[in-house]
Amino acid sequence: MKNNNNLDHSKTEFLFESDAEKAILKEASKPSKVKVYKKIARNSIIISCLLICGFIITYSSQSDKLFKLSASLINSSQNDKEKMNDSSESLDIVNNNYNKKYEIIINKANPITESTLKKYKQVEVIDNVISGIKLEEQTYKSYLKLKQNLLERGYYINIRSGYRSFNESEEVYNYYKIENGIDYAEKYVAKPGVSEHNAGLSFDFIISQDKTSLKTNYQSDEYKYLENVAYLYGFIIRYPKDKENVTGYSYEPWHLRYVGVELAKYLTKNNLTLEEYYETKE
Ligand code: DAL
Ligand code: ZN
Repeated sequence: MKNNNNLDHSKTEFLFESDAEKAILKEASKPSKVKVYKKIARNSIIISCLLICGFIITYSSQSDKLFKLSASLINSSQNDKEKMNDSSESLDIVNNNYNKKYEIIINKANPITESTLKKYKQVEVIDNVISGIKLEEQTYKSYLKLKQNLLERGYYINIRSGYRSFNESEEVYNYYKIENGIDYAEKYVAKPGVSEHNAGLSFDFIISQDKTSLKTNYQSDEYKYLENVAYLYGFIIRYPKDKENVTGYSYEPWHLRYVGVELAKYLTKNNLTLEEYYETKE
């Protein structure tokens, strides 16, 4: 992967298998110390039965607390994993019409095969801060028009990730899984066959007033401008804020998807994701 180093891996918010949790679970599963205390009691004629009982009661309550704490951590971990599965299970399976090749949906419930992907011709992206990137032909043509519009305002857009083969998708997924954990990977990275990057219809971009910048300020004028004009060129922000349960992915302000001008306009004006569009259509 040529551009691995440029991928945003700054978010590390998952602690399900954290050291803290492991330590608590380890503590809770340690062999009981009751035997030790009993031995002390046996060897001591001074310690009264009352004291022994009091000690055991104190220990039991601590042990109980540890048990409850570890159980709640296990539960919360399971709940989060279930939530994640729920989000993909709640996605509808749709009948993609490949004659309208830019309107298709690719998500966790709607995979695309390598043989169908042959319909999407990939071309080399030139004049980009990162070399070796490809995009689907029509997607690239539209991107160049968008780029020109931005340039006229002194805004520079560059692509940091475009077309991905199945192998590359696997690499990206595994990279994030190792770096940030499986939960992060599931929220931000699609596996081979369920990623729009596999069709070259999507790309992750950088926009800046600095020609060579590799970073985007999502509060900046240039980003806001792009958000407002992207649909004119057939693009949508594919994974919007507050639609995580609908798309199955976290907010990705950097990920544009080409759907064609007509559909992009409809989705943008009606604040719809592709998933919601198909839900109302079918
Ligand atoms: N980041 C999106 C979900 C992808 O990997 O295709
Ligand atoms: Zn992307």
